[in-house]
Amino acid sequence: MSSSFLSSTASFLLVLLYIGSFHESDGAQQGTYIVHMAKSQMPSSFDQHSLWYESSLKSASESAEMLYTYNSAIHGFATRLTPEEADSLMTQPGVISVQPEQQYELHTTRTPLFLGLDVHNAGLFPETGAASDVVIGVLDSGVWPESKSFSDEGYGPVPTTWKGECEAGTNFTASHCNRKLIGARFFYGPVDESKESRSPRDDDGHGTHTASTAAGSIVEGANLLGFANGTARGMAYRARVAVYKVCWKPKCFSSDVLAGIDKAIEDNVNVLSLSLGKRKRDYTNHIAMGAFSAMEKGIFVSCSAGNDGPSPSSLSNVAPWITTVGAGTIDRDFPTLVTLGNGKSYIGASLFKKDALPPKLASNNATYGKSCLSGTLIPEKVYGKIVMCEKGENGRAEKGEVVKAAGGIGMILANRASRGEELAAYAHVLPATNVGQKAGDIIRRYVMTDPNPTVSIVIQGTVVNVKPSPVLAAFSSRGPNPITPNILKPDLIAPGVNILAAWTGALGPSGLASDTRRVEFNIISGTSMSCPHVSGLAALLKSVHPEWSPAAIRSALMTTAYSTYKDGQPLLDIATVKPSTPFGHGAGHVSPAMAISPGLIYDLTTEDYIDFLCALKYNQSQIIKVSRGDYTCDPSKTYSVADLNYPSFAVNVDKSDTYKYTRTVTNVGGAGSYSVKVISETTEVKISVEPAVLTFKEVNEKKSYEVTFTVNSSKPPRFSSFRPSGFNSFGSIEWSDGKHVVASPVAISWT
Ligand SMILES: *[C@@H]1O[C@H](CO)[C@@H](O)[C@H](O)[C@H]1NC(C)=O
Ligand SMILES: *[C@@H]1O[C@H](CO)[C@@H](O)[C@H](O)[C@H]1NC(C)=O
Ligand SMILES: *[C@@H]1O[C@H](CO)[C@@H](O)[C@H](O)[C@H]1NC(C)=O
Ligand SMILES: *[C@@H]1O[C@H](CO)[C@@H](O)[C@H](O)[C@H]1NC(C)=O
Ligand SMILES: *[C@@H]1O[C@H](CO)[C@@H](O)[C@H](O)[C@H]1NC(C)=O
Repeated sequence: MSSSFLSSTASFLLVLLYIGSFHESDGAQQGTYIVHMAKSQMPSSFDQHSLWYESSLKSASESAEMLYTYNSAIHGFATRLTPEEADSLMTQPGVISVQPEQQYELHTTRTPLFLGLDVHNAGLFPETGAASDVVIGVLDSGVWPESKSFSDEGYGPVPTTWKGECEAGTNFTASHCNRKLIGARFFYGPVDESKESRSPRDDDGHGTHTASTAAGSIVEGANLLGFANGTARGMAYRARVAVYKVCWKPKCFSSDVLAGIDKAIEDNVNVLSLSLGKRKRDYTNHIAMGAFSAMEKGIFVSCSAGNDGPSPSSLSNVAPWITTVGAGTIDRDFPTLVTLGNGKSYIGASLFKKDALPPKLASNNATYGKSCLSGTLIPEKVYGKIVMCEKGENGRAEKGEVVKAAGGIGMILANRASRGEELAAYAHVLPATNVGQKAGDIIRRYVMTDPNPTVSIVIQGTVVNVKPSPVLAAFSSRGPNPITPNILKPDLIAPGVNILAAWTGALGPSGLASDTRRVEFNIISGTSMSCPHVSGLAALLKSVHPEWSPAAIRSALMTTAYSTYKDGQPLLDIATVKPSTPFGHGAGHVSPAMAISPGLIYDLTTEDYIDFLCALKYNQSQIIKVSRGDYTCDPSKTYSVADLNYPSFAVNVDKSDTYKYTRTVTNVGGAGSYSVKVISETTEVKISVEPAVLTFKEVNEKKSYEVTFTVNSSKPPRFSSFRPSGFNSFGSIEWSDGKHVVASPVAISWT
């Protein structure tokens, strides 16, 4: 029963991807248009601009859907229309212009557009001054300073507050820094100088990719082997970058990481981006400790949630003073069409250069190579064939290398169950495509049972406006929080699948030493890619609101994040092809244009975090380890984790009881009254909020409220076919003054 539900949902998703991928090539008349609206002309019959926009759109097209709504400096929306519908929309009252989106197809990191940060929205964030004084420190594998993403053309002098340095070393001199890349340091590690540079130079690619994602300069005509061609830029593309090379082949050692954080604090960075980590049992680990000090200095620390999903409790970097970032897809795919000799076709994903494809690949004999481990393929069986390999046991790039070395001419790489239908694309060293688990099962059966199996792979290039998007990535690590279940993690998700950004000149796009290709940009996936998106967005918020604490910035990003699509349906999780939950997406997908004006924020101070450690019964030596301060918990005081002023709620139920959480919100909007709305999916827990209205007369005024979770069942609610979440139940608490919606996710777990 449940498995047939799963499979039909899965094929539904495949169909959606399939349609998306033919949008460009089928010559359909539809195109994406950006519609600018005259806000002041909104008829009085509407009280929300979005409703007016919807209504105007509906009168021009029955079927068109909002892709984006732009709310601030630019008023309007994006949608897909035929030219006739566009002409008709142009005649509607209040419509200023209806422009086809060709220019956006060129925006390639594409994530600025996907996040609503397209050129027409540029006025939302300052372009100069404050924006270019913000410094993002990236702790990673270093930097390739020659990349155009670090060009300083048009940048003013280095901010006077900057105290960092450009450290020279192997193949790296002080003159490699400039007004964009204002600092570069390295922290020894076990350097094998025959393999990598003892300097800030990035011989790996990862650090160059993350740094350019956070704050890369504008680069036109950026692409990987022709894929995703367009204009690349980082999130905070006016901000400055400082790199701290703390990762070496093969890994990042925490002593180096902590040293990097130390120096970054002294150098006066404003944001720290760490796309690294490991699962930990408590907060006395180096990243958490270093991050605590940074937080104390007002530095926003953004970390990747980990790539250990979809297993529960697989998160890294869960300290509450860190912003923990999971990963979702964007609306761009790199589809391939895999057609079997029996005529059946499946969609995969590939970044193999289209015009380098041998014509022979049109239809070829196929064979099955299991995991395609080095030394396991028999050349006589593989020669001239397309080889099907399974993920796991060795690296996926290495599988391609093994197949190629054995004489194979192509590869189909099937996901294992854990990655489900996720279609991350890779720049393999031979023509290859990744396929989802379901297609993989069918193709394997065919290749193993058909007496003369043949397969063709057609690489289709780049398609955009893929729906649904975002979808939670299967690899994105999941909650519950393994250290403190009463603090919900991850905090939010951001783009992390098939992300284009700058690359090292020392290694090919597959990351294999044998790969002699060199590319300026590469497309890779991971929470390593989503973390620097949030680091860059935090820098943008910092430039608009320099007085905001790291907790305030995180609160703004979280309470304005979205967890449904435009049609109100919940975001999907590609691992289950069912609705994602706050254990996967936290508060939801980041929505930067909304985060500028969150209405209310949940602020936190150093003392609040110390109280949190006291609530966890940390002894004094543990507290000193984390905080470096000489704090003692007051034995006469009752500390509660439930009182940490976090913008989300996680409740751990061990018996029928009431659980009380207090929160304090700070008004950062105008005067007004906020009313609460509670959404809960279970009747076993009653959620009540007191008071239900919060009235603010002035900016920075604080108001507190209490949430009571009354549980009348010590057993979890029964599985619901609508949202079979097992031992968990989810909901949200939303405050709204009619202009802002300040939303907090709720996750209730029965232990
Ligand atoms: C330094 O750069 C040169 C030229 O790019 C290269 O040949 C050499 O291998 C590099 N040295 C190291 C240690 O990376
Ligand atoms: C990328 O797009 C630019 C601008 O349209 C075009 O000039 C260039 O040829 C394209 N490059 C590739 C590799 O497609
Ligand atoms: C495929 O294999 C068959 C025998 O099974 C052989 O006759 C044929 O030539 C092969 N085709 C190619 C393209 O290698
Ligand atoms: C504090 O707690 C840690 C971890 O449980 C323990 O190893 C340490 O001995 C304790 N220190 C003191 C002073 O109690
Ligand atoms: C708990 O209370 C709710 C609402 O009062 C009720 O609908 C639900 O059936 C109760 N559950 C149990 C297990 O008693």
